[in-house]
Parts: sequence; structure tokens; C-alpha cells
Amino acid sequence: MSGDIKKVVLPVAGLGTRFLPATKVMAKEMLPIVDKPLIQYAVEEAWEAGITEIVFVTGRGKAMLEDHFDYAVELENTLEARGKSAELDIVRDLMPAAGKLAVVRQQSPLGLGHAVWCAKQIIQDEPFAVILPDDLVMAERGCLAQMIDAYKDVGGNMAAVVDVPLEQTNRYGILDVTEDDGTLARASGLVEKPDPADAPSTLSIIGRYILQPEVFNVLDRQEKGAGNEIQLTDAIAATMADVPFHGLRFQGTRFDCGDKAGFVEANVAFALQRDDIGPSVKDALKKYL
Ligand code: UTP
Repeated sequence: MSGDIKKVVLPVAGLGTRFLPATKVMAKEMLPIVDKPLIQYAVEEAWEAGITEIVFVTGRGKAMLEDHFDYAVELENTLEARGKSAELDIVRDLMPAAGKLAVVRQQSPLGLGHAVWCAKQIIQDEPFAVILPDDLVMAERGCLAQMIDAYKDVGGNMAAVVDVPLEQTNRYGILDVTEDDGTLARASGLVEKPDPADAPSTLSIIGRYILQPEVFNVLDRQEKGAGNEIQLTDAIAATMADVPFHGLRFQGTRFDCGDKAGFVEANVAFALQRDDIGPSVKDALKKYL
């Protein structure tokens, strides 16, 4: 029903104020979960989903994110000279093919909607995906790959969703659901951070989207919403009469790594899964619990 999704936008221009002082100089998306930065999990999830073209929307002080996906000549020469071939593979395997990583600047952090709009010239007139790297999903099949599977049947706009406790609806973008088969929920509206009493459901959007290019027509207006920011959810909601919207309950666990407790939890969960350090981390944790 719907064409292939080849491009992903990774908005990484936020200030990361919740992680100061760690993010004074370093981008939030370079924070590691065990030994891999958040941005690399996002890029690998995109590749698993068949995405071939990656667009970073960056801001000042984010050059490290680009460097992470480039040659590190000195490091590679040294690893080679020392015969450290496993380490060499680790740094080389993460390089995108030449010409497949584009970077645009969001000069001012005016909101997620504005960050996505900054990629318009590269995306042009085709459907595309968006991954927010600070929302990390642990899953057997990547979250975006699951979404693309579902999108092939229903098309339109789509976001990954999770059920949140009713008292937390005022923290998230919430779906106004019209049909729900338990996996895919069709929505007729989106409400940004509603009070529990007014929340139309408890299905909340996380940082994974598949969007039709029509969203740019709305973002072109640069209208500000909640928090005086240009909101992506407002733009998606404004296209709902013309573009169907579905929320996908994916298989997996989402960690909000933009939040300190979520970030620590993700480190624990990913460490426990590892064959090399899982058992020793488990033993160490027993001391604290
Ligand atoms: P957040 O709401 O987590 O904001 O952005 P933030 O600035 O990164 O972090 P805090 O709240 O100050 O700690 C969600 C995602 O949207 C991107 C961020 O980089 C992050 O991936 N974003 C947000 C932009 O790229 N530009 C913006 O103007 C706002």
C-alpha cells in the first residue's frame, strides 16, 4: 500500500538541560548506554529497518556527533599498528556509506517540529521516519522495523505508542483513539500533555514516527504551541483530516534516556543483557538492593 521509507531524521539539536553539567560541552546523544552512545543505537535501529539515508538535525557544539560516524585516522592507525583487529572493527563498522549521512543545522532550538522542518530540503516530497535518540527501545526486532512492517499495510502517519498510567498523561502527547485492535490504534486527534481528567486515552507517543511530507505544509507556518515551541504533534494533528494516523504498540521496552532515572535504568537493563558483564553487574547490584 505504501512506498519504501528510505530516509530518517534524527533531531539532535536540543540543549539537554536535564543532563547538565554532563551536556555543557558534550551532546546528550553521545551519552553511552554501557559502551555505545545513544546516537549509535538510533542509527543502528534505522539501518535494521532498511533505512539508507540519515539526516542529523544538529546545533552548536554537536560536531562530535558527526565525528563519531567518520574516520578516526589516528585511532585507527594506532589500533592497526597494535594488532587490535576486534577494536578496529568496532570503530569501522559504524560508518555509514559515503554520501548517506547528511547534516543540517537548527540554528535555534525552537522545538521538535522546527527541528524536523529543518530537514525539509533533504527529505523533499517523500514519506520519512523520525527517531529521537534519547528514547531508547530494547527489542528483539527494532522498533522502527516493526513500525515499517505495520505501515506497509496502513500507510499514512504513524507513531510508536505506549500505555502510560492515567496520572501521567500530563507529561506526554496522547492519542484520541477511534479504533483499536490492541496493536494498532487509529486516532482522530492528538492532545499535548492533557490533564488526566481530560485525557482522551492513556496511549502516549514515544520518539518514533513515520510521516508523510504533508506535515511540512503545516510546519511551514512556524506556529508555536505548548512551551512556546513549534510542536511536531501539533503539525501531525493538523493533517489528520487528510492523512490517517495510527499508533503502534510495539514489542519491546522503551527507556526515556532524556531523564536521569530512565538513563540509569537503561544502563542497568542493557548491561544485564550482556554476556561479558551481565553476571558481574548482577552481583554488584545485589549489594545495593
Ligand atoms: P527534549 O524535549 O528532550 O529536549 O527533546 P532537550 O533539549 O534535548 O533536553 P532537555 O529537556 O533540555 O533536557 C527531544 C528531542 O528533540 C530534539 C532533542 O535533541 C531530542 O532529541 N530537539 C528538541 C531538537 O532537535 N530541537 C529542539 O528545538 C528541541
